[in-house]
Amino acid sequence: MIEEDAEKLKSEILDRVARYYRLVEEPKRHAQFVPGRDRVNYAGRVFDEREMVNLVEASLEFWLTHGRWARDFEERLAEFLGLRYALLVNSGSSANLLAFMTLTSPLLGNRRIERGDEVIAVAAAFPTTVAPIVQYGAVPVFLDVTLDTANVDVSRLETAVSPRTKAVFLAHTLGNPFNLPVVKSFCERHGLWLIEDNCDALGSRFEGRLTGTWGDIGTSSFYPPHHMTTGEGGAVYTNDPLLRKIALSMRDWGRECWCDSGVDNTCGCRFTKQFGSLPLGYDHKYVYSHLGYNLKATDLQASIGCAQIEKLPDFTERRKANYARLEAGLGDVAGIRIARAEHGADPSWFGFLMTVEPYAGFTRNELAEHLERNKIQTRNLFAGNILRHPCFETLKEGMDYRVAGGLENTDALMNNALWIGLYPGMDNARIDHMIATIRAFAQH
Ligand SMILES: Cc1ncc(COP(=O)(O)O)c(C=O)c1O
Repeated sequence: MIEEDAEKLKSEILDRVARYYRLVEEPKRHAQFVPGRDRVNYAGRVFDEREMVNLVEASLEFWLTHGRWARDFEERLAEFLGLRYALLVNSGSSANLLAFMTLTSPLLGNRRIERGDEVIAVAAAFPTTVAPIVQYGAVPVFLDVTLDTANVDVSRLETAVSPRTKAVFLAHTLGNPFNLPVVKSFCERHGLWLIEDNCDALGSRFEGRLTGTWGDIGTSSFYPPHHMTTGEGGAVYTNDPLLRKIALSMRDWGRECWCDSGVDNTCGCRFTKQFGSLPLGYDHKYVYSHLGYNLKATDLQASIGCAQIEKLPDFTERRKANYARLEAGLGDVAGIRIARAEHGADPSWFGFLMTVEPYAGFTRNELAEHLERNKIQTRNLFAGNILRHPCFETLKEGMDYRVAGGLENTDALMNNALWIGLYPGMDNARIDHMIATIRAFAQH
């Protein structure tokens, strides 16, 4: 009887949540855009009643930590990617940390990354793609990018290799895939791990295959501006059972045991095994094979993800269409270079990157100020050149990091590039307003 009442009450609550969405949120989606009055954000959450209903349902279940929603979301994400394993974590930065630290595990024998080993990276980066390398005491080796793609200049890869190189760790800049076939075969030739920071690129492809699935490990961010959201959140994915086992251990405190939270003795030998020099039969639940973290996310976050992931194919198409409209409207503007995809790449763009050419007659900051004055939100290309930030001031070149060749294009992007939004919530009226505002500015 209580169960029946509870079910009825729950369905009434969920019904009301959906009604609330339709009353409060839906009209916002369809409000007419007034240029000059309304802001054009660079990104935003795109959701409907299903996200809100899932979230309230998960709240009523009150499991709070990693549970059935998280497992369901992990399965769906792995299925979307066509991979065997996906692990939910609490941010894209945590995903990068976990992916990198996974490759430092002693379980990987002489392929593990040790302190002092080198990892090929770019300086035109988001900070937390580089941070885990430095924090661990490995040495990032920075390569320049190309101006057209804002991705690693693959013609320089060989110049970065040394006997201590163990891995390549790169992001697909603003959703634009770096040259995966070339980077992958470079890694294979030199026996290097490849981590793809796919935080800005979920749904992008190269030669038909999804980014994030080419390397040994891929990472995602589900922070609201990204290709789908769980609020805060991220994921690590792989096809390799050993990497998955290590990542799971490191995500969950470093433990040896793999029982879900609230479940005991999945292995069936909780009190009978020998580990290290612990007493025989020391509780498997409290045996630590790694010095790990707790990077888990909650069922509340995952419940939103379960609704969002169903929208991902549509989001991807809308991002591509918005890029195409912006490119058609701005491709001929003198003095502005638009980021483009490599041959074979099919980006689900995160943003529309423009670099102001030296001959333009205006600067990037002047263009940014003009756009912001006209209520069009702009963003720089993240850190620009991470080496020029205060966080690198105390680090020593040649010891804590290396630069292979110059970083002229990285600096050019730092000085002259900015990006505007093209997220799925952007309608044609907003896109056309951005085009008209940029054209008018560039032509006067
Ligand atoms: C390329 C890249 N990597 C990692 C991250 C970090 O993700 P999060 O904000 O979820 O920590 C971001 C964030 O925007 C990013 O753009």
